[in-house]
Amino acid sequence: MCGIVGYIGNKEASPILLEGLKRLEYRGYDSAGISTISTNKLLIHKRSGKISDLERDLVYREIPGTLGIGHTRWATHGEPNAENAHPHDDCTGKIALIHNGIIENFDILKKELQSKGHQFKSVTDTETLVHLIEEFYNKNGVLEQAVREALLLVKGTYGIAVVCGDEPDMLITARNGSPIVLGIGANEYLIASDVAAIAGHTCNVTYLDDNEMAIIRRNNLVIKTIDDRPVEKKVEQISFDLDKIEKGGYSHFMLKEIMEQPQTIYDSMRGRLLEEEGTAKLGGIQHELESLLYARRVLFSACGTSWHAALIGEYMIEESVRIPVEVEYASEFRYRDPIIDRDTVVVVISQSGETADTLAAVREAKRKRGKVLGICNVVGSTIARETDAGIYLHAGPEIGVASTKAFTSQVTVLALMTLLLARMSSMSASRGREIVQELKSLPSKVKKILDGHEYIEQIAEQYANKHNFLYLGRGYNFPVALEGALKLKEISYIHAEGYPAAEMKHGPIALIDENMPVVFIATKDSTYEKIISNIEEVRARKGKLFAIATEGDDFISTKVDHTIYIPPTIGLLTPILTIIPLQLLAYYMAVKRGCDVDQPRNLAKSVTVE
Ligand code: AGP
Repeated sequence: MCGIVGYIGNKEASPILLEGLKRLEYRGYDSAGISTISTNKLLIHKRSGKISDLERDLVYREIPGTLGIGHTRWATHGEPNAENAHPHDDCTGKIALIHNGIIENFDILKKELQSKGHQFKSVTDTETLVHLIEEFYNKNGVLEQAVREALLLVKGTYGIAVVCGDEPDMLITARNGSPIVLGIGANEYLIASDVAAIAGHTCNVTYLDDNEMAIIRRNNLVIKTIDDRPVEKKVEQISFDLDKIEKGGYSHFMLKEIMEQPQTIYDSMRGRLLEEEGTAKLGGIQHELESLLYARRVLFSACGTSWHAALIGEYMIEESVRIPVEVEYASEFRYRDPIIDRDTVVVVISQSGETADTLAAVREAKRKRGKVLGICNVVGSTIARETDAGIYLHAGPEIGVASTKAFTSQVTVLALMTLLLARMSSMSASRGREIVQELKSLPSKVKKILDGHEYIEQIAEQYANKHNFLYLGRGYNFPVALEGALKLKEISYIHAEGYPAAEMKHGPIALIDENMPVVFIATKDSTYEKIISNIEEVRARKGKLFAIATEGDDFISTKVDHTIYIPPTIGLLTPILTIIPLQLLAYYMAVKRGCDVDQPRNLAKSVTVE
């Protein structure tokens, strides 16, 4: 889950590499480095810490050259320190390499290379690859050939870039499992893990697929397979608004992304609502509607927050379309030999479109000849390109590691999908029109909740020193309880659990005393009476009580310590409203505790390794 960037052209490389790394920092931020080729010499500067630390160093240490590579790391093998930071160089100090992914057979390769006299400076898997390239380069003296022969011996995943002092006009990159996008500019080329690092330099991009490499010279670009067969690639135009990847005056990307949800929810529905017909239009799955509608079962697969959205998708489709739905963790799905037949439609959900476990679930389902659809946010991402069809969220770049606006857009898109399929089966036009009106009212309702952020900040002030939290909900609000707990865990480091409210009696109730804050998502729906009894069970044990409640419900505020009201809406859309106060609560708790909200410890935005 590292970020890699490379540049070859007429401009000084290091400022461009630094700018690119800053935009990729959400992918990993425990150490960083860059290297350039200047007068046939390889220059490297790397260190532990953030890009800002590296940038400070480079004020005092110039790294000239119009060819270079840069890396920001999320450690997998070897602790975050200067030795293990990338780029790694070979014994001759001529070849440098950066890598995103995991070399699974590095141990065996390393022993063999050490037996041939190679000296290793780090404990990383990556360094093995640069010594392997060195080994072949010493034999054949051709960098492209050396990289190819080395990669043919590697097992695992990689997105790499390589430069060499002997080749001052060549940048080589290759991918297997980790994303690489190539930017084609005027007299310059860029490579990166994500278009964000290329935006502002060119809009012409092409994407490497697995087992492909690109040999980039100052005036041309050649793409081949790792086993040396030429590949023709389509050049695509990206429209990227740089503002979208700035903080827009907010102190954190997470807060900006929470506050922009009225717009992003609207953008996820834009041009997809057919008011008269009381249905939705989803061009990306138009040709797959029959296979969805007549599926014997729909199987959602995803990770983390996207998995929580999938749970809500299950409730929606089973309730309104009456097709059996299963929800699988992608990391389990890929290894448990799932039963996939021609009447099963697999739908994977991924904000980044690069999550390794979810990508593997796509490939496993396709291997079993299943139909695989995707719901993704990042345009042109690997999952989007490898699924048979899909739906984009149009939520814009999500930079904060804790996913917020992508979640509400995922649930919005799942509601559109449900409405479309339900109207194709048993739902009436009038019911469909009701749902369309409710969908259209979401942005203003979310805005109303966001306007109440100060009250939530005050509550966070009172509870920021707590060590545990319990989130409870029923029906559509059970996955919201899970998501609320995940948000608190990942950015404030407070231990939190989400549970179906009725499950509390079967164990978690033992945790409750005056030190245990319990958040109930208790909107007015068919299970309201039941959840009031659950609240009474916690009150009886002196737990501190929060309720996310429906406006006008004065009764519940007599039962709990803090009530956060949301406007009323229909069942299947409730999660889009009830999650907002929980996102804000987690955010303010983390800020009060002095946590690094946008780059929480041990996490990264896109998990491209197993
Ligand atoms: C959520 O806040 C986390 N960043 C994480 O759980 C995330 O949802 C998960 O890694 C899946 O990511 P994806 O949607 O990009 O596949």
